[in-house]
Amino acid sequence: MTNIVVIGTSRGIGKELVLKLASNPEFNVYALSRNGSADFEKHSNIYFHPFDLSSKTVREDASKIFQSIGEIHFMVNNAGKLVNKPFLELTSNDIQSCYQTNILGVIQAVQAAVPFLEKQTSHVVNISSMGGFQGSVKFAGLSVYSTSKAALCSFTELFSEEYKETAISMNCLCLGAVQTEMLNEAFPGYKAPHSSEEMADYIADFLLNGHRFYRGKILPVSTTTP
Ligand SMILES: NC(=O)c1ccc[n+]([C@@H]2O[C@H](COP(=O)([O-])OP(=O)(O)OC[C@H]3O[C@@H](n4cnc5c(N)ncnc54)[C@H](OP(=O)(O)O)[C@@H]3O)[C@@H](O)[C@H]2O)c1
Repeated sequence: MTNIVVIGTSRGIGKELVLKLASNPEFNVYALSRNGSADFEKHSNIYFHPFDLSSKTVREDASKIFQSIGEIHFMVNNAGKLVNKPFLELTSNDIQSCYQTNILGVIQAVQAAVPFLEKQTSHVVNISSMGGFQGSVKFAGLSVYSTSKAALCSFTELFSEEYKETAISMNCLCLGAVQTEMLNEAFPGYKAPHSSEEMADYIADFLLNGHRFYRGKILPVSTTTP
């Protein structure tokens, strides 16, 4: 059996990704999020674990879950928090909570995962944003969100350098707009070119195959921005 961990799974792209991966009966899919999803209950190969990237004990919490899994072949760091506010209105909590979920918690979850990542071949995919991709179009109000996602891109490169002698691959996908609750809340009325199902299909395929062609790469996944 192949063990796949997805973090950030109660809705949007992460939920669709878990359902897509679970359609293969040879996969055990471990869904980590603060909230569960009723859609997972119909699938015997989806295992939900309550998990909060903003917990003070995030590394320990993740480690306990990964110990119970044993060996991890694939991991997707999909959870994200979007803050859309004018620069001077950003509170300390906005800044800290956004960074905690989008980069600090992810680093700690990966620290917890490394001892359990399969030694012959494993692939970790980080889900960033076009806003964090160097040279892309930028949007006012997203200074904290997009810089936290840029940090996730850098983390991918730095982790990959440190683990280049191992079979652990890490890559980062910078998504353009996808029609999800997050997008609707931040930009009401905006029509994205892709649904969460379409993006989940793409991420699932990249997760299972991308490490054969990419390692330590930051890849834009967008039809609309440079
Ligand atoms: N939608 C877009 O247009 C777009 C564009 C570029 C990049 N992205 C990125 O793609 C990813 C998925 O986006 P989405 O639109 O599907 O977002 P979403 O609908 O808001 O879903 C985000 C998921 O992350 C989980 N999450 C949030 N905070 C968490 C925490 N502290 N601990 C654990 N899980 C947490 C949420 O579950 P719980 O609340 O249950 O924990 C939720 O399931 C995000 O990283 C986002 O930044 C999205």
